[in-house]
Amino acid sequence: MWTVLIVASIALASAEPVTFHGDKVFRAVPQNDEHVELIKSLASYTKLDFWLPDSELLLEVGKAADFRAGYDVAYDIQALFVQNNLPYEIMIDDLQVAMERQLNNNIRSGHSYEKYNELETIYAWSANIAAQNPDLVSRSQIGTSFEGRPIYLLKVGKPGANKNAVFIDCGFHAREWVSPAFCQWFVKEAVNSYGSDAEFTNLLDNLDFYVLPVLNVDGYKYSWTSDRMWRKTRSVNQNTFCTGTDPNRNFAANWGTNGATSSPCSEVYCGTIPESESETRALGDFIRSNLSSIKAYLTVHSYSQMLLFPYSYKHAPAKDYDELMSLAEGAVNALSSLYGTVYTYGPGGKTIYLSSGGSDDWAYDTGIKYSFTFELRDTGKYGFVLPESEIKETCEETMLAVKYISNHVLNNA
Ligand code: ARG
Ligand code: ZN
Repeated sequence: MWTVLIVASIALASAEPVTFHGDKVFRAVPQNDEHVELIKSLASYTKLDFWLPDSELLLEVGKAADFRAGYDVAYDIQALFVQNNLPYEIMIDDLQVAMERQLNNNIRSGHSYEKYNELETIYAWSANIAAQNPDLVSRSQIGTSFEGRPIYLLKVGKPGANKNAVFIDCGFHAREWVSPAFCQWFVKEAVNSYGSDAEFTNLLDNLDFYVLPVLNVDGYKYSWTSDRMWRKTRSVNQNTFCTGTDPNRNFAANWGTNGATSSPCSEVYCGTIPESESETRALGDFIRSNLSSIKAYLTVHSYSQMLLFPYSYKHAPAKDYDELMSLAEGAVNALSSLYGTVYTYGPGGKTIYLSSGGSDDWAYDTGIKYSFTFELRDTGKYGFVLPESEIKETCEETMLAVKYISNHVLNNA
């Protein structure tokens, strides 16, 4: 009887999307270990949604921590921070307002490169762009999500023998909406530039680009219908009501160690085994079967304006550190040249935080030397609710970095 009631009320609750009225996004900068412990203890008795870093586990002295807190606890948190001399600012005063402002207008008909598109719209777009450019784009399904949705991959390039490839994926984390927007933009640019832009034509003649517009399709769908702040997959975990695994803690890269946990309720839950998720398994399988051609692996996240390369699971430098560092520098310079957007770059463990199970480290250890994680705009003013008005500039500047890396791959791999 009780279970029936509980299940029924959960089903009812999940029918309406979560709202964020009055929720605030804080930026706190812990000055010492006591401050770190204070935030951790807050997180243990009230729901704090960590935006950057992704979990309270990753807090560090001197590094900004962005997190969302409910209206009911926000004032107490501020009082506590003041009392303890913990410097903080409020980045977003009312998340619901910021969220509603993120979408340019309410008339959302059809696909647009300068809007956030719903999953079904992205599915239809990917079918169309392949159908309309059969000589340049083809679509295949590389797997099926936990909830049964197709995971599509676009192959972009002029058919040719023995071509090397650059693999780009978007939409690992559901709430990072600007990421899928970038993958769509990339394909549009390829199609529009072929035959008219010499640089891109050369790249497409000599390389293939595998573009995966949304990996975590269930999570992305859920972030539109139910909880805009959803991050993980939507797989059901045993013996708990908590749902989902962090796909970027789910790869065989020192899996299940630092910056990840085995608690299913955590935002950085690593899953039961590496590639436990159908989505990460599909990605892993595809890359393993195409290892001889794939020379670069680029995975697109947001936010914080960073270009990261291995390692994230340890501090020790990668074998190719020097080359990756100067490639990252060149890519970031290209990116910044357009609008002056400031990016930091370097190995993940030093630049953002130590964390295990990431796809970039896994790809690198699997033999793909040019492995990078992009963290797109912004640096926290809007965070995950980046306004649609910034999609165009974000994608344009990111294109420059991706082309820079691709040219290097073409000339060196
Ligand atoms: N924000 C990303 C994440 O936490 C950063 C990924 C960097 N790479 C890594 N292997 N952790 O998933
Ligand atoms: Zn992410």
